[in-house]
Amino acid sequence: MSHIDYIDGILSIDGVPLTSIAAAVGTPVYCYSSATLADGYRAYADAFARNGLPNALVCYALKANGNLAVVRSLAALGAGADVVSEGELRRALAAGVPADRIIFSGVGKTPAEMAFALDRGIMQLNVESVEELATLNEVAIGMDRRAPVALRVNPDVAADTHDKISTGRKHDKFGIDWNAAPAIYQQAAAMPGIEVVGIAVHIGSQITSLSPYRAAFARVVEMARSLREDGVAIRRIDFGGGLGITYRDEAPPRVADYVGVIAEAVRDLQCEVVVEPGRRIAGPAGVLLARVVRVKRTVDRTFIVLDAAMNDLVRPAMYDAWHPIVPVVAPEPDSPRETVDVVGPICESTDMFAAQRELPRLREGDLVAFGAAGAYGAAMSSEYNSRLLVPEVLACEAIWSVVRRRPTFDDMLSQDAIPDWVRAPFNG
Ligand code: LLP
Repeated sequence: MSHIDYIDGILSIDGVPLTSIAAAVGTPVYCYSSATLADGYRAYADAFARNGLPNALVCYALKANGNLAVVRSLAALGAGADVVSEGELRRALAAGVPADRIIFSGVGKTPAEMAFALDRGIMQLNVESVEELATLNEVAIGMDRRAPVALRVNPDVAADTHDKISTGRKHDKFGIDWNAAPAIYQQAAAMPGIEVVGIAVHIGSQITSLSPYRAAFARVVEMARSLREDGVAIRRIDFGGGLGITYRDEAPPRVADYVGVIAEAVRDLQCEVVVEPGRRIAGPAGVLLARVVRVKRTVDRTFIVLDAAMNDLVRPAMYDAWHPIVPVVAPEPDSPRETVDVVGPICESTDMFAAQRELPRLREGDLVAFGAAGAYGAAMSSEYNSRLLVPEVLACEAIWSVVRRRPTFDDMLSQDAIPDWVRAPFNG
């Protein structure tokens, strides 16, 4: 059963009518379903348990949605975290994820970020280059520590997803070249500041088929076996994230089947298992709620102009992504439909959420909801056009709270400063 559905004709989230949230908080606003978040996490945890891997760690990728209340909800269920910056690491810690359940990924960790992570007792740093390994070794030696490391290897597998979110091919900036990895492992094993703990892989995002996973995981497990034979202590495999969701008509694999592929791959290997899902957990749990500001009719188009824009939800502009758009008040079954362009108010043609989409007829003031917007929505929002950062609400069992408030215009202006030397000429 979906926790985001019409109740008495009003689209509701965990039993809360979106009309109430819009009335209290205004629009645009992201709204998240606690029940859907929990379902997303449990799909992984339960499947691992059923496959004889009850200790597999689901490290939720904060980049999808790092709101503290969201992360706390998942941490309370047992989730660890995958982070890619000091900011995300601080978020995970502040939300109550223990440091020994956090993985630090990313190609550009600074020495300061490495030191921060080591100081907090991070579970694992995924190292993406031999250069990064050398820096981490120095940082760790300077702190009289050994950094727990997995090398993120690049299995050179095309993930068959949008070019901009594919990461596991040879020419992508991610990971360590497959053929170079064994020698770099030997170097790492000899470094006094490095403790090799595992191997990591992540081939891309919004992946809707199991075959690239099968191919990549088989290669990684084969690498783990041969490293062990060479005396490198691989005790953990991090299989990354990337499992897709349905935005339009995609039919992504079930989490249980994806977990089955992992279980099959690690059979007889005796290793710890980690995954880093983001979108699959947070994506289905969120909607972006917006209001129609204007219906603009021109000779050959009808534009539905919303009060949400590409700064609030950038995926359509950035990746040509398709998000469902539905009216919050269910239309009568026989009400007219219209082919429209759904746009935001930003001064760019790319501020377009949907082109030539057939929707029930919308009027000025109507509320609409973008579906599957819980991942990479608020997390990628900005203030472009000096629009206030979009607020967030979390609902649970018919109650709801604001979990990120809408800033005031004073908040926004107070971030800038006019130095005296700029001010002076105007004052004469
Ligand atoms: N682990 C690593 C190392 C990653 O780079 C990512 C995502 C994940 C895990 C989580 O992937 P997920 O399970 O969410 O697919 N902004 C884009 C998606 C970028 C994904 C980047 N890396 C979008 O809106 O589609």
